[in-house]
Amino acid sequence: MKLVKHIANLGYGSRRDVQWMFREGRITNAAGEVLYADDPLDHDDVRIDGEPLDPPPGLLLMLHKPTGTTCSTRDPGRVVFDLLPPRYRLRNPALSTVGRLDRDTSGLLLLTDDGQLLHRIIAPKSKLPKVYLATLADDLRGDETALFASGTLMLDGEKTPLLPAQLEPLAARRARLTLHEGRYHQVRRMFAAVGNHVVALHRERIGGLALDDLPSGQWRALDAVHREELFGD
Ligand code: URA
Repeated sequence: MKLVKHIANLGYGSRRDVQWMFREGRITNAAGEVLYADDPLDHDDVRIDGEPLDPPPGLLLMLHKPTGTTCSTRDPGRVVFDLLPPRYRLRNPALSTVGRLDRDTSGLLLLTDDGQLLHRIIAPKSKLPKVYLATLADDLRGDETALFASGTLMLDGEKTPLLPAQLEPLAARRARLTLHEGRYHQVRRMFAAVGNHVVALHRERIGGLALDDLPSGQWRALDAVHREELFGD
């Protein structure tokens, strides 16, 4: 791939914009020598205004999603992409969220431009555990742990029962729930099925990957070690 196309695909501008950046001598190698649009591509050696390029395709990010943001790209309100550098929205291949969290759910959200990786994370057969902390409107009844673990719970409008899920009560109105699938509004609908209502929901973990100390609204790029954590646990 030509250097100009690679840089445009990273969201730095249209090919025309990037052509101008070359003409203006803003694109150099690490030694400061001016590069040209059709020079061979050596991603790590390219600098724009002296700064290294954003990571190449194959990107995996974790974001601490705050409540009040949506995972959609088209929502007129606040979207999770607003929390990333504006260039990241223009990348090709595009960065997408790995599954979704509701507007009112906070916590660990992954984003990637790698279709195979995305599929590997969300494919039903991966059964990657997702761990949620739920705050409830009413006290737990006491039978939820057994019911959620039974593998027989049917949600309204669904054709197959939910896979067994692990509920760990933490207080009368607070529980940790581990799911191995991702159906629409699943946590909220599970608690609705037992006559309760989720007032706050937070995802702590996907597979072996936890949010840890990442502050709300912040993100970080994940390296190979994190990817192993994700699929191990
Ligand atoms: N379950 C829900 O109900 N909402 C989410 O955002 C995630 C899981």
